[in-house]
Amino acid sequence: MNRGEKGMGMFVINGGNKLHGSLFVKGAKNSMLPIMAASVLNSSDETINLYNIPDIYDMHVMKKILQSLGAEVHFENNALQINVRNLKSYNISDDLMREMRSSIFLMGPLLSKLGKVRVTYPGGCSIGPRPIDLHFKGLEAMGAVIREENGAITASAPRLIGTEIHLDYPSVGATENLMMTAVLAKGKTVIHNAAKEPEIVDLQNFLNAMGARIRGAGTETLRIDGVKDLGDCSYKIIPDRIVAGTYLMAAAITGSNLLVKGIIPAHLDAVVAKMREAGVVIQAADDSLEVIQSNLKAVETLRTLPYPGFPTDLQPQMMALLTLAKGDSTIIESVFEARFKHVDELNRLCANITVDGRTAFVRGVNKLFGAEVDTTDLRAGAALILAGLAAEGTTVIKNIQHIDRGYERIENDLKKVGADIERVQMLK
Ligand code: EPZ
Repeated sequence: MNRGEKGMGMFVINGGNKLHGSLFVKGAKNSMLPIMAASVLNSSDETINLYNIPDIYDMHVMKKILQSLGAEVHFENNALQINVRNLKSYNISDDLMREMRSSIFLMGPLLSKLGKVRVTYPGGCSIGPRPIDLHFKGLEAMGAVIREENGAITASAPRLIGTEIHLDYPSVGATENLMMTAVLAKGKTVIHNAAKEPEIVDLQNFLNAMGARIRGAGTETLRIDGVKDLGDCSYKIIPDRIVAGTYLMAAAITGSNLLVKGIIPAHLDAVVAKMREAGVVIQAADDSLEVIQSNLKAVETLRTLPYPGFPTDLQPQMMALLTLAKGDSTIIESVFEARFKHVDELNRLCANITVDGRTAFVRGVNKLFGAEVDTTDLRAGAALILAGLAAEGTTVIKNIQHIDRGYERIENDLKKVGADIERVQMLK
């Protein structure tokens, strides 16, 4: 049980083991977080039930935030019960805001429900500045008045009015925040250049199950007809395509045959295409993908893009894979400004990567060698695990609390399929 403790732990990995068997992937972190925030919009006294919920650190943070606002939130056996009948506060504490950027998802729901919200700037992180200007522009277009003073942001809106919004960039968070703002606004809202990620579709389906009237999620144009109020529902969230991709790449980098199941293969089309280009033989079935064998070869160019392009959240893991491919690969990170913090750490394992701005040049090497490395962010940590599984000797990965944000006890899954990995909890 994660219990939301931020332990300063380490993973100790002895590389070289083949993986075998199968792994089941649980619900998507990036679907769960906006859906937990959207539960605030329930105006009934009834409880919302969410299923397929991963026991990860970010879920516990969002749970604490909702409880701090007056909601009753219970998590057990990968299910959440959320009741907001006593929700009364619109003020999210600074320390909780700093804990997790996704707390910004609460702006729309709280503004819709209480007409007011106070947050502080969400922590930037090591993948870039993470501005929220697109969120603000959309909220103001719907009638919110936003004031910023010494780091605190207060937004108020006696009445939110539907309107046409053109996003300058298909921002996932801005699309979700504005969708959650429009569902109770007066009249119609159209969001152009919306993000098309599967998590947007999941949020639309959840809100419609509560009684909202949204269509177009998964395309670049979202249409939302404001309704008077929203009720409770029971909902199962989609599987985590990034965890699935991480496990597929763990199989590929160790030259293993592994079945990854409980997933929606179509959500990984761009990832499977790129892995096949890199010499990985993958078979697809209805709810699973299987890595059969791998003969890794470089890919000329890997460019991260908004969905349905190759996801930025699998760029670090794919880079780890390509460090052992024959030949030279070029990786262009077009979504975030600074998502190469894992490069130095991979090079400590004797990879051969150089960076120029948003482009990384990966020269394939024959072997990686275990070393002590540091986790800078969630997906960088996942990349280091993959490299450690393949490296000769022992790899020690520090500050693994970043990894626990998005993976439910990843070491248990990997041990189950043959990896030699242990979690060592640092004494506080
Ligand atoms: C979501 O972050 C995900 N997080 C990220 O996953 C993911 O990498 C990202 O979408 C892109 O797919 C959650 O869903 C909780 P964006 P978000 O707004 O919403 C710029 C992980 O590892 N931008 O689509 O913050 C921004 O700077 C995390 O699970 C603005 O300029 O992503 C970035 O360059 C990491 N102004 C680009 O857009 C804004 O107002 C994409 O950001 C908002 C964003």
